[in-house]
Amino acid sequence: MSVTDMGNIRKAPIGVFDSGVGGLTVAREIMRNLPNEDIVYFGDTARVPYGSKSKDTIIRFSQQIIRFLRTQNVKAIVIACNTASALALDEVEEELDIPIIGVLKPGAKVAAATTRNGKIGVIGTESTINSQMYPKYIREQNPEVAVYGKACPLFVPLVEEGWLKDPVTEEVARRYLENLLKDGIDSLILGCTHYPLLRSLIRGVVGETVNLVNPAYETARELGELLREEGLEHPERNGQKACHQFYVSDAAEKFRNFANSILPCDIGETQKIHIEDY
Ligand code: DGL
Repeated sequence: MSVTDMGNIRKAPIGVFDSGVGGLTVAREIMRNLPNEDIVYFGDTARVPYGSKSKDTIIRFSQQIIRFLRTQNVKAIVIACNTASALALDEVEEELDIPIIGVLKPGAKVAAATTRNGKIGVIGTESTINSQMYPKYIREQNPEVAVYGKACPLFVPLVEEGWLKDPVTEEVARRYLENLLKDGIDSLILGCTHYPLLRSLIRGVVGETVNLVNPAYETARELGELLREEGLEHPERNGQKACHQFYVSDAAEKFRNFANSILPCDIGETQKIHIEDY
């Protein structure tokens, strides 16, 4: 590849996708940690939630989204959705000639490396927890660790309702987390895109001694390392801001309002596309 081609690839955007708005917590970490990188984000708002769907369906959806992102000439892809990372990453990465990462491995790696008592809790959607992929990745790092999983399906609608500090959400969290605390976990992986938005409420329930691991943050860090290793980092911008584009499969205005409430910038236009065409 010529130096000019390489220079152009470095300027290409990162493709980021999720079942809907949740992956914006990952996009937010990428914006904070890798401010030179442009992002093309796709939220599958017509087909959300993924967390209760089967592996075959999630693989098909992920393949379609990746085909769409390739039309945007992305240089790398981040599966921001924990469910899609758990169920589809292995299949889709075999078919790709650009780097792709999911959010599970980065979170699993940090939890395995930082636990003091070898007891890690993982919370996520039903499909993520049933897939047993977090325990698999954690044990690849450290076979001695015990992993305790708990599906917390009510958290996603509560976050989308904006009840981030509500007593109802707190009560739900207490019930979900009770047994993990009895098991004596010292680390808790927030294994769903929406859960970092409940971080302070969960902190209140689990107390100060449990280390909360945010896969969104760890993924942004790992993406930075990957881009450096592959020589794909965006060149310095000399004061110019990165440019992000947002696509959804439905309800663009609702998506835009949510995005503007959690991202550090106004996202401007959001385009709706017909994802089944890809
Ligand atoms: N984005 C999903 C995840 O991280 C949560 C929402 C859904 O079920 O689609 O697993």
